Amino acid sequence: MTAPSTQRLVAICRLDDIDPEGGVAALVGGEVVAVFRTYADEVLALDNYDPFGRASVLSRGIVGTRGDRDVVASPLHKQVFDLRTGVCLDDETVRVAVHPVVVRDGVVHVEIAPA
Ligand code: FES
Repeated sequence: MTAPSTQRLVAICRLDDIDPEGGVAALVGGEVVAVFRTYADEVLALDNYDPFGRASVLSRGIVGTRGDRDVVASPLHKQVFDLRTGVCLDDETVRVAVHPVVVRDGVVHVEIAPA
């Protein structure tokens, strides 16, 4: 874990700009991050890159739940990723990076370490 002082918050969009169970892609610090809003209005962020499909597509995946976990299913090959841990539930040796999200005054911010 990087020390908080080396990280920064990048404003992405308003919470209302993301549909419930939807996602948006945002360029943050030179990488594309997928930001998702759950049915319960929680906002979570993963790298947008699908390591199975080898394309930057996760923001266009289907948000839902598997058991009690909030997940996104890749639009390419349907592998399911846990939105809190980034672990692929179909192949737990694979994971994508998770980015902390802060919603402040209705605006979604992603926390990222400077490159
Ligand atoms: S990588 Fe294509 S179906 Fe799994």
